[in-house]
Amino acid sequence: MKIQDILTRAPVIPVLIIEDVAHAVPLGRALVEGGLSVLEITMRTPVASECIARMTGEIEGAVVGAGTVLTPSMRQAAADVGARFVVSPGLIEGEEAEGPVPLLPGIATATELMAGLAAGFECFKLFPANVVGGPGALKAYASPFPQAKFCPTGGVSAANAAEYLALPNVLCVGGSWVAPTDAVRAGDWGRITALAREAAALAPRPPASVEG
Ligand code: 3PG
Repeated sequence: MKIQDILTRAPVIPVLIIEDVAHAVPLGRALVEGGLSVLEITMRTPVASECIARMTGEIEGAVVGAGTVLTPSMRQAAADVGARFVVSPGLIEGEEAEGPVPLLPGIATATELMAGLAAGFECFKLFPANVVGGPGALKAYASPFPQAKFCPTGGVSAANAAEYLALPNVLCVGGSWVAPTDAVRAGDWGRITALAREAAALAPRPPASVEG
C-alpha cells in the first residue's frame, strides 16, 4: 500500500498512546467500528510494538502503523512487527519514501518541505500543525508546492478538523482527541466508537478531480 492510499482511507487518523497491551485490540476495534480504520500507535510506551503486532493480527479491516518513529532502525523494527506505515515528527536523515514500510515524515517549515520533496516524498505530516501556522500555512504552501499533500497533526480536534479537511492539499488529519486517555483507561469503548463515528463523518472530502 502506498502512503497516499493509506491517508485517503479515512478523514482522521487516531494518534494512540497505549499504556496497557490489553487495551490495544478493544481500542482498535472501537475505532474501526466507528469508521476510522487507519490507526497510528506511537512508539512512546514499552508495549507499543506488541500493540501493533496484536492489532495487525487481530483487527480485521484495520491498517495499523507506528508513530513517533525517529530513526531508520525504528522504521525497520516497526515493519518487523507488522506496521503497514510509519509516521515521524520530522525528516529522518537518509530515509526515503521507499523503504521497508511507507514513511510519512513531519515538516514544520518550507525549507523542511523542500528537503522532503528532494528526498522523493510527496506526503507530509505538518507538525505541530496548530503551532506552525495551521490552515493558513497549508494554504500558503499550496501554490509553490502543488505536489505536496498533508496530514496536519498536533492540536487538531473536533473543533478545527473540518477547516483543515476542506483544504485541497489535505488528505486527512491526525489527532488524539478520538481516544481520550480517561476513556481508554476506563475501557469506555462505546464513547470511543461515538467519537470515531463523529470524526469519520466530519468532512467527506471532495474527489481529487471532477470530470466533465
Ligand atoms: C502527537 O504526536 O502526539 C500527535 O501530534 C497528536 O497530537 P494531539 O494530541 O494534539 O492530537
